[in-house]
Amino acid sequence: MCGIVGYIGTQTATEILISGLERLEYRGYDSAGVATVSEGKIQCVKAKGKLYNLREKLEREVNHSQIGIGHTRWATHGKPEEHNAHPHLDTLEGIAVVQNGIIENYRELREELIQQGTEFTSETDTEVIPHLIAQCLHGSDLSLLDAVRQTIPRLKGAFAIAVISAERPYELIVARQQAPIILGFGQGEFFCASDITALLPHTRAVLSLDNGEMARMTPLGVEIYSFAGDRLSKFPRTLDWNPVQVEKQGFRHYMLKEIYEQPAVVRTCLESYLNPNWHADEQPDFSPVNLGLTAHLCDNLEHIQILACGTSWHASLVGKYLLEQLANIPTTVDYASEFRYSPKPLIPNTLTIGVTQSGETADTIAALEAERARRENLEPKLQAKLLGITNRPESTLAQVVDRLINTQAGIEIGVAATKTFVAQVMGFYFLALDLAYRRQTLSNQRIGEIIEGLRGIPPQIEKIIETQADYIEELAHDFTQETEDFIFIGRGINFPIALEGALKLKEISYIHAEAYPAGEMKHGPIALLDHKVPVVAIAMPGSVYEKVISNAQEAKARDARLIGVTSAMNAQEAAHTFNDVLTVPGVEELISPILAVVPLQMLAYHIAAIKGLDVDQPRNLAKSVTVE
Ligand code: AGP
Repeated sequence: MCGIVGYIGTQTATEILISGLERLEYRGYDSAGVATVSEGKIQCVKAKGKLYNLREKLEREVNHSQIGIGHTRWATHGKPEEHNAHPHLDTLEGIAVVQNGIIENYRELREELIQQGTEFTSETDTEVIPHLIAQCLHGSDLSLLDAVRQTIPRLKGAFAIAVISAERPYELIVARQQAPIILGFGQGEFFCASDITALLPHTRAVLSLDNGEMARMTPLGVEIYSFAGDRLSKFPRTLDWNPVQVEKQGFRHYMLKEIYEQPAVVRTCLESYLNPNWHADEQPDFSPVNLGLTAHLCDNLEHIQILACGTSWHASLVGKYLLEQLANIPTTVDYASEFRYSPKPLIPNTLTIGVTQSGETADTIAALEAERARRENLEPKLQAKLLGITNRPESTLAQVVDRLINTQAGIEIGVAATKTFVAQVMGFYFLALDLAYRRQTLSNQRIGEIIEGLRGIPPQIEKIIETQADYIEELAHDFTQETEDFIFIGRGINFPIALEGALKLKEISYIHAEAYPAGEMKHGPIALLDHKVPVVAIAMPGSVYEKVISNAQEAKARDARLIGVTSAMNAQEAAHTFNDVLTVPGVEELISPILAVVPLQMLAYHIAAIKGLDVDQPRNLAKSVTVE
């Protein structure tokens, strides 16, 4: 979604702003703009569409300004047109503002300003902000910081803003109210951005503003204040990230690179969380898994509720299966966006888990906050215990939960989640094993077997990539011209994988795809089938294998082309049922989702790539969904 970059220092601002915005492109946007200050005037340049349009416009002008703010906009209020792109200016063009998030009361503010004679040039919620700041400054001797501070209480909603002024080319003000903004510290130069990726080429010394905080950045340093005006003492931390992590490294698309990174991600998870000294046959008196969870979070649990959206919701469904089957804890999974407005009855001793790859999804964050709020001041067993699962430990999620599981996937650039999904599922294996050990719901021997299964995953994913890549790419050609619909089916622990396969395909190839529990087909969806609708069946050996094969046969009898995802051990037999077989190494059913998802990611990828679509930034989608 929208991205903010700001710079103040000794270099030419526009180059830094535009390259910063390029690093935020993956978040999704439809227009962009920058504002700088030279010779007492704000220069504002905007362009619809991709950043090269903005770059081209900027190259036509000489601009040596050393202060500026930039923005990529993902339209919410008003169409993706140039006049709605940020930055937005006040009437006299003395103040420029970029904003992420939403100003919920913008209509009232706009009405009020219009009645006072203000003319608006956009349909955005943002434009009220520069007008309000300018109003505060008009005829007063307020500082820019104080004018922004006086404006903020008038704004309702979740937002982050960056502000510059024509008359004060030596300062940049930023503020955070429930939308992320991070400050970067260089030598005589300072940066701000909504996402660390924009800062990485310049500095690794960063500081995230908390809600209710603002900063005044000058070439001499950064001052941090609360919205109440108190000066705060905060220190930057050093990131251990390498800018190379966010390069394509020779791959055609980030998504492909991220699919190929999955074995390494799983290895890092295993190394980070499995206790190497734990051996099932030695009767160890410590958990096989070290997630650093406290007894307060884990003991006496009667219920787990998981809140998530999209792919993270699918990972959570696998998690539910594992938590119930291994740790014997009743578990529910809710869409965060639904839970917010229809919370479930309060159950004592509930652990609430928020799962999000970006760590910023507005619905998930708000649902967790609402859960904390409604349990406040209740008796101890009803109070909130919040756990987060994410690959972005520096994100807003970390500020909301009591404890975080870092899934170790690192940053993911492709909008379609791949490696972060696999890492989230790994997080759930570890959590379920830790809880199973603590609650003694599994024998040590069984825990040991599952751990052995997990250890086998990295080379098994490598094998899938090695043996299936060419075949899947060739197969993908068959679906790039006329195919308009796909159906995915699976059962048990692999039903969420069917959901994930369908989501991947629709997100990046724009082919309509739906997923059903295989047994549900005959209750309605089977009416859709004919020779034009391919059916992908996840048929991993185990408790429901025969059932899925029967359900697949029912689809075949309606002329559907059948693609099976199954174990290499069953491939020959499966060839009797399926027209096309995607094989993965044979593993026990409990471990199979992590392998079964890989060929589905590859199939979606190749279909979209052959169609020549923008795989990494599919239309209308954003990597970080920071609005409701
Ligand atoms: C995944 O491919 C999607 N881009 C999307 O469904 C995503 O999973 C969803 O928006 C949730 O995001 P989060 O994990 O950052 O919370």
